[in-house]
This record gives sequence, C-alpha cells and structure tokens, in this order.
Amino acid sequence: MAATSAAAIDKSAMVKQRIAVLIGEMTLEEKIGQMCQVDAGMDEVSETLAEDIRKGKIGSVLNQVDARLVSELQRIAIEESRLNIPLLIGRDVVHGFSVIMPIPLGQAASWNPGLVEACAKSASIEAAAHGVNWTFAPMLDISRDPRWGRIAESLGEDPFLAASLGVSMTKGFQGENCYGVSNIAACAKHFVGYGAVEGGRDYATTNIPENELRNIYLEPFKAVVEAGITTVMTSFSDIDGVPATGNEYLLRNVLRDEWGFEGLVISDWNSIGELETHGFAENKEQAAFQAVAAGVSMEMAGDAYASSLAALVKKGELDIDIIDEAVSNVLSIKFQLGLFDNPYSDPGIFAETEFNDALKISHQAALESTVLLKNNGVLPLAKQEQKKIAVIGPMADDPYEQLGTWIFDGNPDLSVTGLQGICRAAEPETEVAYCQAMKTTRDAEADIAVAVQLAAASDAVILFLGEESILSGEAHCRADINLPGCQEELVKSVSAAGKPVIAVIMAGRPLTLNNILDDVDALLYAWHPGTMGGQAIAELIFGDAVPSGKLPVTFPRHVGQVPIYYNHKNSGKPPSKEKVVHIDTIEAKTPQTSLGMCVFHLDEGYEPLFPFGFGLSYTRFSYSNIECSNKEISAGNAVTLSAEVTNEGGVAATEIVQLYIRDLVGSVTRPVRELKGFRRVFLEPGQTKRISFELDSAALSFYGRKQERVIEAGEFCAWIGGDSRADLETRFRLVL
Ligand code: NOJ
Repeated sequence: MAATSAAAIDKSAMVKQRIAVLIGEMTLEEKIGQMCQVDAGMDEVSETLAEDIRKGKIGSVLNQVDARLVSELQRIAIEESRLNIPLLIGRDVVHGFSVIMPIPLGQAASWNPGLVEACAKSASIEAAAHGVNWTFAPMLDISRDPRWGRIAESLGEDPFLAASLGVSMTKGFQGENCYGVSNIAACAKHFVGYGAVEGGRDYATTNIPENELRNIYLEPFKAVVEAGITTVMTSFSDIDGVPATGNEYLLRNVLRDEWGFEGLVISDWNSIGELETHGFAENKEQAAFQAVAAGVSMEMAGDAYASSLAALVKKGELDIDIIDEAVSNVLSIKFQLGLFDNPYSDPGIFAETEFNDALKISHQAALESTVLLKNNGVLPLAKQEQKKIAVIGPMADDPYEQLGTWIFDGNPDLSVTGLQGICRAAEPETEVAYCQAMKTTRDAEADIAVAVQLAAASDAVILFLGEESILSGEAHCRADINLPGCQEELVKSVSAAGKPVIAVIMAGRPLTLNNILDDVDALLYAWHPGTMGGQAIAELIFGDAVPSGKLPVTFPRHVGQVPIYYNHKNSGKPPSKEKVVHIDTIEAKTPQTSLGMCVFHLDEGYEPLFPFGFGLSYTRFSYSNIECSNKEISAGNAVTLSAEVTNEGGVAATEIVQLYIRDLVGSVTRPVRELKGFRRVFLEPGQTKRISFELDSAALSFYGRKQERVIEAGEFCAWIGGDSRADLETRFRLVL
C-alpha cells in the first residue's frame, strides 16, 4: 500500500514537473491555444483546422467521431505542432454511443448504481474506440420542473440519488483514474443551478438562495469532485444575478478552494461570449477576462479567449499566472488520460464481445428503468390467453424516437421497437395487429375509427404513447406536459371498446397522466428506453421480467403544481386531507378564513399523482418491525436503521428499499423528508429479509445559516419503505 502511494506521488510530481517544463517552453499564443476548444464536426479535416492545430492554437476539438479523422487530428497535433501536445477530443456521450441506453432520467429510475456505471463504461469503450477521450456527462442538475426539456438528461430531483448515480457514471467513464485507451474523462455539468431555470424555460435566469444551493443543488457536484471527476462545465444561466460562467464565487471559492477541485473547468457552448448578452460584460474582451479570472480553463466553441486573452496579458490587465493555471489544468487532464504516452485510439477495444455486452446492458437498463405506475391485475398478460393483441400508437414502432435526447451517434437500425418486441414474444401463437393511429404524437387527428375497430376485435390492447425524442432535451421545453396531440382522445376512444388497455409511455419527462389514468388498466412508464427498449417492454408485459423501477422524480397531477417535489419544507401551514377544500365544494359567500388555510391548490389539492420513489411490482411488498440500533447517537458515531421487508405475493421480484429521515428542528428549516439510503433487494415469494442502513452522524449534517456545514443536536424521524410516503417510523436523537 505504502509503495503504491509513494509511486503515485512520484508520478504526480513528475507530471507536475513536465507540465511546468512545457508551460515554460510555451509562447503566450500557444498557452491560449490550449484553452480553446473548437467544433470539428466536418467530413474532412479542413486546412484551416489543420493549420490552427499545427500552430498550437487549439487544445481540444469537439464533435468529430470519425476515428480516421480523429487520428489525423491527433497526428497533426503530435507530429506537426511545435510542442507535440495531443488534443482532447470531446463529445456528448451521455447515454450510450451507437448502442443507446435509457435516458439518464430513466437510468435513475433503476436506482442501480452498478448498472448505471455499466451503461457509462460501455458507452465509454465505444466512444474511445472512435477516438473520443472526453465526454460531457454526467449531467447533475437537480430538476424539479418537468417543463424543462433537460430534465431528461438529469438524474432527477433528489440530491442523494443524483450524487450516488453521478458518482457511478463518473466511475464508468473514467475507470480507476482515467488512464488507458478505454477510459474517457467525465465532465460534471452544468455548474450550477441550471435545473432551476424560471418557468422551466431553458437558458432562463435562476434564483436559488445560497442555503438551498448548498443543501440541494451543489450536493451531487461535490460528490463527484470527491470521487475524482476531472472536468466541470459551467451553466448557461445566471444565478442570483451572476452568470455561472463568470461566477468567481462558485468557480473559485466553492469549487476550487472549498472542495479542492484541481481539474479543468470548461465553459458551455459560447457561454463566455454570452456574458455580453447577459449584460454582465461590456464586450467580448471583458467577458473573456471575467471567465478566466473566475477560473474557466477552456472556452467551448467561442472566440473570446482566442481574440482577447493575449491583449489582456500584454496590456498588463491579466496576470500570466491565471493563464498558466488554466493551461496547467488542461495539460494535467491530457497526462491523466495518458495522451502523452499514446494519443491514438484502438478500434479493437469495441469488438463483437463489447458490442454484445452493450446490447445486454441496454436491455437490462431498459428493464430496470421502466416503472409500473398502475396495474389493476391485467399485467402480466398471460400470452396463452390472448388470441389477438392490438398494438396501437405513434410510439409503437419508431426505432429513432424511442432513443431519447443525446443520440448523435445512436444507431436506430439496432433498435428493437415495442411492436417488434411484442411480435417476437407473442407470435405465432398470438396474432399481433398494429395500427399507428397517429403519425406523430403531436397530430391533432388520429385514425380513431380504425384503432377502435382493431381494439374491439382483439383480446387486449397495448397503447404506445408519449413524446418523441425531439420533444425533450436542450431547448425543448413545454408549458403543457399532458400527452401531446390527440393522444388522450385516442386513449379514451380505445378504452371505450371495452378491452383491457395497457398504456406504455415513452417520454423524456414526467407527463401529466391524470386525464387518462382511469381509462387504462395498466400503465408502464418506459421513459425513452434506448436501443433495447421494445424487447424489455415486451418481457415486462408478458411477465418474463418483473418491473422494479421507481420514480426519481415526482409526477404532478397538473402542470400548475410545478414545482412539486417530495423534499420540500414543512411551512407554517402544512396541508392535510382534513384541511383542504375542493373548488367544486365551495359555497357562495363562504368566509375566506374557512378555506383551508394551508399549502395547497383549490383545484388540485396538494398531492402529486405519483410520489418520488414510487413504483409497483407484480408482487406486493410489506414492511414491518423497524428498528433503530441506538436511540441516541453522538457526533462521529453511527446509527443503524433496519426494517423487515416481505414479498407477500407469488412472484420473485426486486424491491427498492428506501430510507428517509426528517430533522425535526433546525437552525434553518429542514425538508419534510430526505432520502438517505436505498437498496435493491431480491425476494422470493414469501421471503422476508431485514434490510439495514448505517447512518453516520455526518449524514445528518447540513448547511446552516452561515452556509457552513453544521451538525445540530435534536430529534430525527426515520422511515423505511417502498417510496417517499413510507410510514413505518422510528425516532432517534443526535446529542452533542
Ligand atoms: C450545450 C449543452 O448545454 C451542453 O450540455 C453540451 O455538452 C454542449 N452544448 C456540447 O454539445
């Protein structure tokens, strides 16, 4: 052990020395070159790009994944530039490469860190085989607003879950330490608060009080920094009046000084130039100054650094040490990735075995990310009892639209659609008849008569609904999050045919499903499930696999409830069933003060449609006998919380057991519940297991009024159960 760490210290000292030597040899222009990333998405290497690389004007390119061209770019950098410095090759490898995994929000519904790591590892190997050595993932923006299209890319609304899965993704991409041909550098984005854009409109302003920022939004970033993530990307938004890309407090004081981050910070696409548009900088030069002074080491796809930094240094307005620090951050990642030893990719690392593994991982991830939201007993569908099944809907057989938001390199030819999956599983014993009914999910009219006729002539109907890939992701926000087009009408008409209706929703966000819930017998939420989605869905429908996914985000009943999330504050007037009144029951001239007087809406109440952590199975799990190892714990000690979970049904299945706590009194108000642990537990029919969670006193700490981490004495409630409404409760005290 001692020998290894000594070797590691030697290596890092050696690298530091090599970086210092290189920086010593660089001209100012070459230094600035390392701080520039340009778009290289072209069919051939252009002479301009080649010349810029030769002259050392470029440290990184993005969006080139043709292995031949990437290797030519690297060759020019290594052989023809004066200092032979390899390039960082960036790409948004977010949920797969040619084989697409479920969208990150879907992966989060698996609550399976190992599987999430495997998804990232597989994508990393395939991307690396194409010459990519840097991905812009994981996206760690806490998202409480399903109107925001980028919720699809996120890991949901909870800091604990997002932190845990974000660390898994980071490990999947970077491996042990980034080094080696199949590892790529990961990038935590978007630092920070981007998920809180006003009204769920992408790129809009964010206003997050610092206490909320620290207790909620920063947590997943802090976790990946502790896990060794090498790069961070700034957010497009302004936060509390300061654009994230020029935010010295967040980028220096918090990220670097408090957390000790030593890696590379990259801007988002032209977000340095946009400091001018924000009205934060007078011109590009000032924008460049603000970003570099704040600690942004590299500019993505803009020319503020290239056009302004040299002049700023020459005028004496910018200290060369700031430039050297940025260059050192860039070079250090290049060393860490091993690019100075071998900058070239090896296509052989993603061969048949790895390709087949990728398909298997995509399949398993689609199985585990699908959430069963309703089932009146129709599922699993007994194949032998179905003579004919009707498959209906615009998302049933679209190999591209099931893939999700970040699919630059995705290959729709590999997709198994829902229709294909069902045909493969059910034919020839069962006849499968298909009616697309709507060309797109947005159509105002559908072939309703044909669909209804087909439904009436079948034993069961499987409706594939939702929204296409293009309706979520960056710049794709919606004010109305109902099923688009006339899908609701389609559901109601088909349901009126009187046959069992199973709805499968593919979407990049929580949709409001209140309007169709009573019209369907079962509801499976598949997100955008990726390449193998259709096979996984068919297996779940026919009971060859059992749903285990749980929601990583609250599903509102109505868009007007947004933001609605489980870990809210209690307020002085918490709602309850007894207190709330419904708009329809208000009588004329009712005195104002008798109308509820608590946190709710007159028309929608206060509860969501489905709470955070919720998901059904083909069996039922019960929870009992909660225990707490000690009723009092002191700082530095741990408490063990456990409960028995029993599979009450006749099917072996996996339950995601969740631990929530509440700090009853704090120097700042505390959330009504906080997730503090979760575990996937497999149980045979009738089997009971005691599941324990050890909670260190540090897990009870939080950021207090001075925005420093505090641990405060007092009483805590803890619940163990299957979702955020778990009611099996115990209590303990933290004493100091
Ligand atoms: C803009 C997006 O905000 C960011 O997430 C992405 O990584 C970059 N473009 C590069 O494509």
